[in-house]
Amino acid sequence: MPDIEDLPGIGPKTAEKLREAGYATVEKIAVSSPKDLSELADLGETIATKVIEAAKEMADVGGFITAEELQEKRKSIGHITTGSTDLNDLLGGGVETQAITEVFGEFGSGKSQLAHQLCVNVQLPEEKGGLDAGAIFIDTENTFRPQRIIQMAEGLQLDTAAVMKKIRVARAFNSSHQILLAEKSEELLRQGGIRLLVVDSLTASFRAEYIGRGTLAERQQLLNKHLRTLHEMADLYDVAVFVTNQVSAKPDAFFGDPNKPIGGHVLGHSATMRVYLRKSKKGQRIARLVDSPNLPEGEAIFVVTEQGIIDK
Ligand code: GTP
Ligand code: MG
Repeated sequence: MPDIEDLPGIGPKTAEKLREAGYATVEKIAVSSPKDLSELADLGETIATKVIEAAKEMADVGGFITAEELQEKRKSIGHITTGSTDLNDLLGGGVETQAITEVFGEFGSGKSQLAHQLCVNVQLPEEKGGLDAGAIFIDTENTFRPQRIIQMAEGLQLDTAAVMKKIRVARAFNSSHQILLAEKSEELLRQGGIRLLVVDSLTASFRAEYIGRGTLAERQQLLNKHLRTLHEMADLYDVAVFVTNQVSAKPDAFFGDPNKPIGGHVLGHSATMRVYLRKSKKGQRIARLVDSPNLPEGEAIFVVTEQGIIDK
C-alpha cells in the first residue's frame, strides 16, 4: 500500500497533520471531501482538492471492479458466531465483517447482551465460530459490564483474563464524543488484530440531545456522518460493526410508529443488516431479520442465560 507521503505536495509536516486528523491512509484521503481535508490538515481547498485527486488515482477507489473481484473481496468476509445456531443461520452464518449490523428493540430485549457476547465470541478460533481477534466497545450508556464478559468467557471455558485484555472499552459522554471515538478507533484498527467494533447505543445520545422537530435534520445529518465513518471502518479494516438502537414497543407520541427504529430512514439505508429483537416467554428472545440485501427475511429464537447467549 502506498504511503501518504507518496502523494504529490505532501511533505512530512502535512503528513503528520493528516495522520493526527485521522487521515492516515491514501484510501482515507481519496474518499474525503476537500472541505474536511483542508480544515483538518490546514491546507488550502485547492491544494486539498489536488491531493484528493492524486489519492484517488493512487488508491484506485471509487473505480469499478468486476463482479468476480467483488466476489473475491466478499470471500474474505468473516463471520462471528452469536452463540445461537438459529440466529447465526438467520444472519447467514453469524455477524459479518465488512458490514454494519444493527439490532433494534425495546429495553431488555437483549441488544447489549448480544454486544457483550460478540466481544467474547470474536476471540474464539475460527473453527469455533470466532475470528481469533479482539474487539472495541464504544459504550454510550454506561452499560458495559466486565463481570458479564467474565461470565460469558467462563461459559465458553476461555481464559477470562486473556479475554478481558482483548476488549478495548471507551465511554462516550455525548454524541460528539461518540463520533470522535469512532474516528479515533481507526488508530487501534490500523494496528490490526481487531475484527469487531461495537457501538452500544448508536442512537441514545443523539436522541437525548436533539429533541424536537427543528433539530431533527441536524440529528440525521450527524448520525449519517457517524454511520459513514463506521462503514469506512468496516470496509477498510475488515471488521464487523455492531450497533444497537432502542425502540419503544408502546406507541409513543414523539417517535410515531413504534416499530420504526430511531435512526429512521438514515439508518435504514446505512445499516447492512437489521435485526429486530423482542422478548418472548421463558427468557426467550425472538430475532427478526429486516431488509437484508441478500438474505431472506425470517425469525430466530435464542435464550439469554448467565453463561451468555445459547440455543433455545
Ligand atoms: P436497553 O439497553 O435498555 O435498551 O436494553 P437491551 O436490549 O440492551 O437489554 P440487555 O441486552 O441489557 O438485556 C437485559 C436482559 O438480559 C435482562 O433483563 C435479562 O433478561 C437478561 N440477562 C442479563 N444478564 C443476565 C444473566 O446473567 N442471566 C440471565 N438469565 N439473563 C440475563
Ligand atoms: Mg442496552
